[in-house]
Amino acid sequence: MGTLVKNGTVVSAEGSQRLDVLLDGETIREVAEGISPAGHTVVDATGLLVMPGAIDVHTHLDMPFGGTTSADDYTTGTQAAAVGGTTSVIDFALQNQSSTLNDALTTWLKKSEGKACVDFSLHMAVTNLHGENGVETLREMQEMVNFGITSFKLFMAYPNVLMINDSLMFQVMQKAAELNALCCIHAENGSAIDIVVSQMIAEGKTEPHYHALSRSPKAEAEATHRSIALADMAGCAVYIVHLSNEAALAELKFMQARGARALAETCTQYLVLSIEDQMPGKSWDEAKFVFTPPLREKKNQDPLWDALADGSLSVVSTDHCPFTMDQKALGKGDFRKIPNGGPGIENRLQILWHFGVNAGRITPEKFVSLACTAPARIFGMTQKGVIAPGKDADILLWDPNEDYTISAATQCMATDYSMFEGWKVKGNAKHVFSRGKQVVKDGKFVGEVGHGKFIKRIANAGGLD
Ligand code: URP
Ligand code: ZN
Ligand code: ZN
Repeated sequence: MGTLVKNGTVVSAEGSQRLDVLLDGETIREVAEGISPAGHTVVDATGLLVMPGAIDVHTHLDMPFGGTTSADDYTTGTQAAAVGGTTSVIDFALQNQSSTLNDALTTWLKKSEGKACVDFSLHMAVTNLHGENGVETLREMQEMVNFGITSFKLFMAYPNVLMINDSLMFQVMQKAAELNALCCIHAENGSAIDIVVSQMIAEGKTEPHYHALSRSPKAEAEATHRSIALADMAGCAVYIVHLSNEAALAELKFMQARGARALAETCTQYLVLSIEDQMPGKSWDEAKFVFTPPLREKKNQDPLWDALADGSLSVVSTDHCPFTMDQKALGKGDFRKIPNGGPGIENRLQILWHFGVNAGRITPEKFVSLACTAPARIFGMTQKGVIAPGKDADILLWDPNEDYTISAATQCMATDYSMFEGWKVKGNAKHVFSRGKQVVKDGKFVGEVGHGKFIKRIANAGGLD
């Protein structure tokens, strides 16, 4: 006896079709027209779209940062993910500069142990190299790949904490190339930004608004170009995270046109929020929107949407890194001390559907590609991202006609605010299955803490090999 999702429209990255989907245990057994309901539990999907469970490849759960720890742990964060239609997340383990990758892995496995409600994987952030010529850390990279962690994060920002220099970046990229792994880059010129930040503080410009002004699109564009050029030199596939503006996009496209193996994501917030609307420099409340890269001028939004439609950007993630307003208050009077990050894991699909599909900017198939299929392909999650026999039964039943009002009062995320407070959207996750178990029913979480498991990924150079 299985679970039969009947009478829905299955949407894949390639097309849409009226098909039934039979789930058997943790996997999909059959996808066909008119599967007989005999002996199965039937879920009526009339009027619903049946999609692969979505994947958020950029989250920071229970992460020490900015003098505090992100507010969602693996339980609240993955509950919020599930309610939003996301059935897998890829979180970031951070190497402490004085420690090893294996220590970071142990720490993050402990954080997640028995706590996740949907499946998860990890990227490993390399922040220092140990041993002669980095030999010990580079050897550990092989161990990470053996463990199923096949992407390495490099921060070109946050000096003295996470930032690496070009020589470290190049060594990691050479090793990643050898391992067929992917390098994920936070692309901002941290050294130049630090100078601007000090100048602003010296001029008494301490409010949240100046966080945004201190980190220019040019600083992001420069680092985007440099990291792709270095990756190209090292023979490594590279994935630019949270690309936020038109200048950085131009560098990405330039290098892609020259044959560099470069992919990139943008995040929900850069598509719909802006300096003009959210951070005009009027109040402390704008600390809600202090994240990095910062919000940009509105004129950057259309080029980002166009790049999603034309394929130069491959993925929409969230960079979910939630802090409460009490935590943000660490930086009252000094924007440098505001913990950087915003909550969004729960709202990614609502925003992408409403402002993307409903607005005619992307098709439903593109939506599936950006949120589900491309993330699985790029990050080597072979069991995820498509609805096909043998794949994990991660299924999202999407109601394109549900009217929903986003609010902190009703969200699962642990923050006391929403970046989209009061926004009315059409389209929402109705039912969600994670490896065959229903985790969301009629929009409410019904899953189990501890159901989510660590997913081993394959090293496939971002699907570009
Ligand atoms: O502000 C952000 N984005 N916080 C999380 C860390 C990062 O840079 O992705
Ligand atoms: Zn980042
Ligand atoms: Zn991030």
